[in-house]
Amino acid sequence: MRGLVREAGFTAGSLVLPMFVREGISEPAPIASMPGVYQHTIDSLKAAAREAVDAGVGGLMLFGVPADHDALGSAGVDPDGILNRGLRALKEAVGDEAVIIADLCLDEFTDHGHCGVLDVDGTVDNDATLEIYSAMAVEQARAGAHMLGLSGMMDGQVSACRTALDEAGFTSVSILAYSAKYASAYYGPFREAVDSQLKGDRRTYQMDVGNRTEGLREALLDIDEGADVVMVKPAGSYLDVLSDVAQASTVPVAAYQVSGEYAMIEAAAANGWLDRDRTIMESVTAITRAGATIICTYWATEIAKKVSRV
Ligand code: PBG
Repeated sequence: MRGLVREAGFTAGSLVLPMFVREGISEPAPIASMPGVYQHTIDSLKAAAREAVDAGVGGLMLFGVPADHDALGSAGVDPDGILNRGLRALKEAVGDEAVIIADLCLDEFTDHGHCGVLDVDGTVDNDATLEIYSAMAVEQARAGAHMLGLSGMMDGQVSACRTALDEAGFTSVSILAYSAKYASAYYGPFREAVDSQLKGDRRTYQMDVGNRTEGLREALLDIDEGADVVMVKPAGSYLDVLSDVAQASTVPVAAYQVSGEYAMIEAAAANGWLDRDRTIMESVTAITRAGATIICTYWATEIAKKVSRV
């Protein structure tokens, strides 16, 4: 009876697996604060992608961890930079069987760890950053990405990247906008995952935790600029924002269950304080109940193996 009348549900195809590829390692490197998640080599990335897609996961979202960082994040634009090489490897491994999503942001590549380039005062320069994002967008499309995940929270990033893609002929590469991205402490473990160089915080460009209406406003702006999917991030502590966006959006809505959400459940479960499997399913079901139809989660492969495929 409960199954028959259940309102919220999702399939394996709704899940997106975030993945990390690291330059200059010969074995996959475990991320201590995210048990079960690795910085991949090119080979282990391909194998993990294959496993995810065989389980029915709908999308793979790739982050690159370069060996060298500089002030402009040059390795992010370089066609032979680790992220673009990783995208080509994903394309080889899974082709068009899943949506290959490239993270489009500078924070993994800059030596100061910010999501954009800095002006003379050391503040992120929005418009100078858009020029670099536009160049990154074209290289990521060339490397085979089907969709670009714009995670830098610069104003105007969706229209800048859309224009650059269209001008370069990549009219069918789509844009997932991290529209409502909060300046959150839940990103803690991710900083280890990408070897972040950040000192300070991202409060000049990420949203304030207390703002609900602003989340909706940001999503509507991105839809206007041409976003194909809008996302709320983090997920679990922002279900109100997610619900608002899901009700108003004319494009599909995604939510990102971030590294800290993953780490909390894994840590509590490792201590025997939570039933791991039930808590994982509850956390993801709650995100779909709030209105997300696309869920980015580090448990994507594991969950996909348990739910129906289509
Ligand atoms: C930045 C970015 C972050 C995450 C995804 N993209 C970190 C940040 O904004 O500080 C976090 C993802 C996670 O915590 O799982 N481009």
